[in-house]
Amino acid sequence: MGLVPMADILEKANDEYYAVGGFNINNMEFLQGIIWAAEETNSPLILQASEGAIKYIGMDYVMNMVKAAVKDTHIPVALHLDHGSSYEVIMRCIREGFSSVMYDGSKYPFQQNIRLTKEVVKAAHSVGVTVEAELGKIGGTEDDVDVDEKDAKFTKPEEAEEFVEKTGVDALAIAIGTAHGVYKGDPELDFDRLEKINSSLNMPLVLHGASGVPDEDVRKAVSMGINKVNVNTAFQQAFTAKVKELFDKDPDLYDPRKYCGPARDAISEAVKEKIEILGSKNKA
Ligand code: 13P
Repeated sequence: MGLVPMADILEKANDEYYAVGGFNINNMEFLQGIIWAAEETNSPLILQASEGAIKYIGMDYVMNMVKAAVKDTHIPVALHLDHGSSYEVIMRCIREGFSSVMYDGSKYPFQQNIRLTKEVVKAAHSVGVTVEAELGKIGGTEDDVDVDEKDAKFTKPEEAEEFVEKTGVDALAIAIGTAHGVYKGDPELDFDRLEKINSSLNMPLVLHGASGVPDEDVRKAVSMGINKVNVNTAFQQAFTAKVKELFDKDPDLYDPRKYCGPARDAISEAVKEKIEILGSKNKA
């Protein structure tokens, strides 16, 4: 199966009240660990690459590794650009074959975010590519995107309606108290806000920064209308913890396959647990 538009995956999730993981790839081991877990659990999958990851891996390597990963797969997989910062970056990803893009105009004032997002939607939809946008501003750090706690802004339900109506986006990332990266305190999700947003928009909503959010809160958010849950840091931590454990046991290790292989398995285990929580198991 080739790549599918993310809208197809999310439409089914929205109809059937579950969420699909938007799982970030950082290198080949992440890609393999993630897709193998999704195949084993028969779950649909959104593989996502940030601009930083594309720069690190290289666009040709991203495209060809993903092509190899989905060549014989039986599950629906979308390749999604995470936090696209400009029209140019988004066009490049679409030309290369991404089936979905996120345009993150959250740093701009409301009307400008609408105008810029609308341009992306027009171009992407003309070639069948899905668009996710962000409204409000999610705090924390991811690659080069660093939003200080005091600059984070929760999504306003009344703005969300106008934003979706005017831009025509397929999925909306909302700020309800999560943050990218490692939490300083305990994350507190604003479920009342989620309820208000979901009741006025019958469309897939996206929760970013899900690493470190208690499982019961993720489950609750999914039951209240979240259909895509983004996770990166938790899998990075699983990979690194395994590498550290192996070096603690044997500091003389030198063959990368002896620690990257088990670390890849650790990612797979963590992905399978998330898939259970999101409810996407056997939804492929
Ligand atoms: P975490 O790294 O906090 O899991 O966030 C991932 C994310 O939201 C990617 O957009």
